[in-house]
Amino acid sequence: MFRFGVDYYPEHWPRERWEMDARLMQEAGVNTVRLAEFAWSYLEPRPDHFDFEWLDRALEILYAHGIQAILGTPTASPPPWVMAMYPDAYRVLASGQRQTYGNRREYCPTHPGYRERSRIITQAMAEHYANHPAVIGWQIDNEFGDRCYCPICRANFQAWLQEKYGSLDAVNAAWGTIFWSHVYTEWSQIPVPLETGGVPNPGLALDYDRFMSDAYVRFQREQVDILRRTCPNHFITHNFMGFHYDRINYFDLARDLDFVAWDNYPRLAWRRVMDVPPASRAIEHDTMRGLKGKNFWVMEEQSGSGGWQTVGMTPRPGEIRLWTYQAIAHGADAILYFRWRTNRFGTEQYWHGVLDHDGRPRRRYREIQGIGAELQRIGDQLVGAESRPQVAIVLCYDTRFAFQIQPNHPDFSYPGLLASYYNALHRRNVGVDIVSPTADLSRYKAVIAPALYVLGQEAADNLQRYVENGGILLTTARTGVKDETNAVVNMPLPGLLAEVCGVEVDEYDTLPTEVSVPLELTLPNDTTAGEVAHARLWCDVLIPTTAEIVARYRDQYYAGRAAITLNRFGRGQALYVGTVGDAVLHETLIDWLVQAAGVPSALTTPDGVEAVERWKDEQRLLFLLNHANDTRDVILPTSMIDLLTDRTVEGRVTLEPKAVMILRGA
Ligand code: GAL
Repeated sequence: MFRFGVDYYPEHWPRERWEMDARLMQEAGVNTVRLAEFAWSYLEPRPDHFDFEWLDRALEILYAHGIQAILGTPTASPPPWVMAMYPDAYRVLASGQRQTYGNRREYCPTHPGYRERSRIITQAMAEHYANHPAVIGWQIDNEFGDRCYCPICRANFQAWLQEKYGSLDAVNAAWGTIFWSHVYTEWSQIPVPLETGGVPNPGLALDYDRFMSDAYVRFQREQVDILRRTCPNHFITHNFMGFHYDRINYFDLARDLDFVAWDNYPRLAWRRVMDVPPASRAIEHDTMRGLKGKNFWVMEEQSGSGGWQTVGMTPRPGEIRLWTYQAIAHGADAILYFRWRTNRFGTEQYWHGVLDHDGRPRRRYREIQGIGAELQRIGDQLVGAESRPQVAIVLCYDTRFAFQIQPNHPDFSYPGLLASYYNALHRRNVGVDIVSPTADLSRYKAVIAPALYVLGQEAADNLQRYVENGGILLTTARTGVKDETNAVVNMPLPGLLAEVCGVEVDEYDTLPTEVSVPLELTLPNDTTAGEVAHARLWCDVLIPTTAEIVARYRDQYYAGRAAITLNRFGRGQALYVGTVGDAVLHETLIDWLVQAAGVPSALTTPDGVEAVERWKDEQRLLFLLNHANDTRDVILPTSMIDLLTDRTVEGRVTLEPKAVMILRGA
C-alpha cells in the first residue's frame, strides 16, 4: 500500500472537529497520519501521570475512516515541568549562553535526567499502543540536531575520549597538544570548544563534533531499544533534514532505524526564489535514500506557504503534485503533508498546511485530493520500486565537520562542491547514489569523491580497490589532507590517494573569490565548445608521477603547470582535479566521466524537465517531471504507457507546466 497522508495535531483543535477532519482526510485519499510528536504536555501532564484518553479517541475516529498512524515520541519538545525539574538540562550554545524556555529542542542530549524522562514517556506510550490496530510505527523525537556545550556534555566528552583513546598520552599525541602547551594531565582538564576559548585545536574540535553526533545516536538508541522490545510489530524511523543538514553523521543516525524519513520544504519561508531548482530537491532525496541504501518516507512534505514571523511563497498550482512525484521518483515510498490544518496559535501560526486557519478545503486541499486519488490507483505499482544508479557521490561527515572547523578558504563550501558535481549529473538525467566513504562501491561505473579531506585508511583502501577493479574515480583538491585525528598527513598530497591518482601536489595557492585562472583542457573529448573552464578558490600545482596531464593553468606564476591529471591504476582510472573550479569545468568533467564510464542518461530532456528511472522488479519506470513554467517537449525513443492516464504515448510528447508522467514500456 502506498502510505499517503498528513501530519495531524488533533490536540490543537476542539474534539467536535475531529470527525470532520477524518472525513475530509478520507475524501482526500489519506490512509496514514503522524500524531503526537509535540504533545508531551497532554500525554504526561504531571510526572508519571499519563493521559492517553484524547489520543485514543483521535485514533479511534481516524481508524473508523480507514486511517492508521505513526506516533512520534514527544521528546523534541519538553513541557515546562520537565525543564523545571532539571534547570541544567537546558542546552548551552557554543557562545556559552544557556538556552531558556520558550521554543523547542532546548534540551541537552546527554543530560541523564532528561534522558530518563524521555525513556519514561517512551515506555509508557509504547506499552499503551503496542497492540493498537491503528498504530503502525514510530517516529523518534523530531529533527534531531544542535550541539550542546554544557558541563554535563563536557564530562561525557571526557568519558567518550577515555573510551576512544584509552590514555591521556594517546589523546595528547593525537591532537598534538604540545602546540601552545595544551598537554592534558587529567581527563577533567579537557575542555569543550566554546567560542570563548577562541579558535580550538582541530583534533579536539573534530572529536567534539563526533561526540555530539554520537550523543544523538545514543539518545535515539535508548528509545529504539524500548520500542523494539515493547512494540516488536512496529517500524521505527526518525524525520531527518536532508542533504543540507550538517551537524550529525546521518549515516550513523540511520543505522538503528528501519528506514529513513525526512522533511521536504522546497519553498522555505526564508528562501525567496521564484523557481525552485529541481536539482536542489533531488540531491536531498538521493542523500536520504543513500543513508541506508533503501527507499525512504517523506514525513513532512510542504503543502502551503511556510512561515513563522513572515510568510513565504505559497506553492504554485501543480507544485505540490510535482514535488510529490519528484520524491517518489527518487525513492519515496510514502508521503505525508505538513500540516493538516494551519494553526491559529503558537510559533508556527503562518506555517500553512493543507487547510487554512478556518479549516475549509481550498485549492491546496483539492490538489492533494487529486494526488490521493491517483496514488490509490497506481500506488501499488510504485511502492518498493528500486533506484539503480551507476554513479555514486561520496559524502563524508568527518570531512564536513572538519571543514566547519577550518573551511580552508572563506568561500569554499564542501556541500556546495558536491552539489555542483551533482547538478551536472542531474542536468544529464544520470541517477546518483550518495554514499559513505566506506560503502561498497563495486556496482558503480563511476565514483565522485570531492575533497575527501579527512581520509582514513579504510576509506582510502576502499577507493583504491574500486579503481584497481576497473572503476573510474574523480577526486579533487583537498583530498587526503588530514588523517582521522584531524592532523595534516606526513606525506605529499593527496596523501593516501597519491599513488592511485599518480600525482603529487608540489604546492598550492588560494585565490581571492573574484579571481579565476583559465584552464587549458586536453581531456580526450573536451566538450566545452569554446567556453573556458576556470580554476577557482584553490589551485594545486601538480607533479604527475604516473598520471598524464589533462589540464594546465594558463595564468599566475604556475601557468603551464598541471591542474588536472588522469591516471591509469589497476584496471581503472583516477581523475585528480586540483582545483575547486567553476560550473563549466564540472560540466566538462562530468561529460568526460559519463562517456568514459559508459553511464547512460535516463533520457535527454530540455532544460527544466527531469527524467528519473526506477525499477519495479524488471519493469522500468520512467518519471518525467516538468519543473518549468511553460510547456516542454520530449522525444521518447519507444512507445510507452503513462500510468497516470493509461494512455500510450510515443515520439514527441508535450508536457504542460509542472506536469508529471510515469511511463513504462508498452
Ligand atoms: C519542520 C519540523 C516541523 C515544523 C516544520 C515547519 O522542520 O519538523 O515540526 O516545525 O518544520 O516549521
